[in-house]
Amino acid sequence: MNKVRLVHFTYLPMSMRVLFTMVLLVFGTGYLMAMIQVWESHASRDSNPMLSAKDLMIAYSGNPEGTKLESALRGPMSDMLPKEKRDVVIAWLHAGAHEDEYAGKIGPIMEEHCAMCHSPGVNPHLPDLTNQAAVMKTAVKDEGMNIHTLVRVSHIHLFSITFIFFITGYIFTHAHVRPTWLKCVALAAPFAVLITDVASWYLTKVWTGFAWVVIGSGAIMGLSFAFMWITSIYQLWFYQLPREIEDEEGQLPSIHRD
Ligand code: HEC
Repeated sequence: MNKVRLVHFTYLPMSMRVLFTMVLLVFGTGYLMAMIQVWESHASRDSNPMLSAKDLMIAYSGNPEGTKLESALRGPMSDMLPKEKRDVVIAWLHAGAHEDEYAGKIGPIMEEHCAMCHSPGVNPHLPDLTNQAAVMKTAVKDEGMNIHTLVRVSHIHLFSITFIFFITGYIFTHAHVRPTWLKCVALAAPFAVLITDVASWYLTKVWTGFAWVVIGSGAIMGLSFAFMWITSIYQLWFYQLPREIEDEEGQLPSIHRD
């Protein structure tokens, strides 16, 4: 009878082990960068610098106490201008965004720090910040990410993350992990939580409590990634397959062992 065999890393040719290792190193770095990016663009949306459920609620469903402009200035646009000027704009918003103060105080800041990207001639998809009437449109209640943006981000997320976890998971299938269900859970979990993560971005608009599902999904995805990454790197180079497993799995012909 033909037994289906686990081809452990140990039996893979050196070239494949080097390839797997390099892919994992780059993915590991990419994952860290992605974490920094999430932090940078969401953490200070509320006034607290830590990343919290509140930050995600603001990002996806909006901020009942703030304007779109303020959320952008505290979030993804916070590095676009010096803090003093940011505080000037936020103070102006809090004071009621009086239009008569615009020309003297706010206009020049927008002109200097925002207009190079936020102008219809440069990028028609971004809010126009080149004139007072247009800026006033962003000084209204923050309704969060619109459906158009969410759909664009979702499809990129769904496709790219599936690629990352297919490749990482495929490498990890060559590891020896018992019980088998644990191995399967680690492989399947990222795909399951990818769906709950993306779905919760939309659901947070309906009920902000779904921000916790976004956080939980991200945490599970990170744990699975870390588990598969560490196990694979360790077993690729430092692990001796137990003797009884070696017999059970059966050795491949020596041609595979160079
Ligand atoms: C280097 C180019 C660039 C500069 C400079 C820039 N932005 Fe942006 N801005 C973007 C891009 C790209 C987006 C869309 C991506 C995103 O939402 O993160 C955006 C999005 C926004 C949004 C919409 C966010 C939303 O929720 O839809 C606002 C409001 C905004 N920026 C305000 C500003 C302000 C105010 C400044 C100046 C202090 C500024 N931006 C400077 C590129 C820029």
